[in-house]
Amino acid sequence: MFEHVEDYPIDPIMIGADLFAQDPRQDKLNLTVGIYQDEQGHTPVLEAVKLAERRLVETQASKSYRALTGDAEYCAVLGYEVLGDSFDSGWVAAQTSGGAVALRVMADLLAQMPKPPTVWLQSPTYGNYVPILNAAGSRFQALPYYDPLRSVLTFEQMLDGLKAARLGDVFLMQGPCHNPTGADMSEDQFAVLLDVLEARGIVPWIDLAYLGFGQSFDADCAMARQIADRFSECIVCITLSKTFGIYRDRAGALFVKTRTQDQERITRAVTAIVRSGASHAPDHGPAVVRTILQDTDMKALWLRDLDQMRQRVTRMRQRIVATEQEVFGTERLSYLGRQVGMFSLLPLSLAQEAALTRDHGIHVVQGGRINVARLGESDVQWLVKAVCGLLPTSDG
Ligand SMILES: Cc1ncc(COP(=O)(O)O)c(C=O)c1O
Repeated sequence: MFEHVEDYPIDPIMIGADLFAQDPRQDKLNLTVGIYQDEQGHTPVLEAVKLAERRLVETQASKSYRALTGDAEYCAVLGYEVLGDSFDSGWVAAQTSGGAVALRVMADLLAQMPKPPTVWLQSPTYGNYVPILNAAGSRFQALPYYDPLRSVLTFEQMLDGLKAARLGDVFLMQGPCHNPTGADMSEDQFAVLLDVLEARGIVPWIDLAYLGFGQSFDADCAMARQIADRFSECIVCITLSKTFGIYRDRAGALFVKTRTQDQERITRAVTAIVRSGASHAPDHGPAVVRTILQDTDMKALWLRDLDQMRQRVTRMRQRIVATEQEVFGTERLSYLGRQVGMFSLLPLSLAQEAALTRDHGIHVVQGGRINVARLGESDVQWLVKAVCGLLPTSDG
């Protein structure tokens, strides 16, 4: 029977990780990883997380099932933290196993509608959206968001493409620290986008994966808050994997804002979809998050460490720009200093990308994504010399 199973595609990030593992050289650099790492290449457990875990060990009285939509208190605490006062009414909320399951539950819900909407995507974007939407059977289309070779947003083209969207379609966008581009819309562009979505009756779906890695946790919630304030129907997916450094503990959430008359039906739909797919979300990660957010001291510790993670990434970005200036006197990578978050794309052709690995031992995700948070101070020269050696010498 199993001989009939077709070959499934392997995620490009996993291919990158495999190729890195197979590279026999000692001097090799793995920029394919999707997690934050400190200067020593570690992904530490945050102090606030350890404290919250200790408290849970001492106080947790039961491990019985929660509701299918998880711990209502976690959803409420997180909802208010991220969305502010606009979380007061109209929301259907579910605790999910990380961000991927929140996305999948929503994709299922859209695909199961009698007249499924088209989901419009930024391209390039998070590599798992297409597999998730495909698995759910959703209809989707990509819109040009960023030109990797010129390292610029293609905002006007994206808006132009959106003209083909119909009333009731959905636009899936990322919050701050866009993965894989590191290029976010300006405030003005975002305002224009929301005008277009509102005028055309397109429902915004925002995916927040890097809260705290852009400007600050609070400032990074602004995009979602603006959407929540303005739209009577919208979707917010959250993963706390990076923000709390609790990747394997799978803390996430799905928030759907509905009109009052739809709320109970959407609650039942979300509950049924959760039941038939992921079922109950794991509770440990979300319980840690709730404990931290509800305790002033732990919250301050967590925000301190989150700020430090963000500052390290910003420092590495600035070091790249300064190193190119010092070594080459050029600004071909200066865009990296204007971008935010862990990821950015190198402006390399596939042949140049292959040369980066072959000749310099630097591994990137196919398509040029690097994880800036993987770089140590001593890696920056290596990267800059290798990349600039592959790029044309003129800035133009
Ligand atoms: C934009 C985006 N959304 C969602 C996710 C999924 O997060 P999780 O690992 O918590 O499922 C990621 C993870 O890298 C991401 O980058």
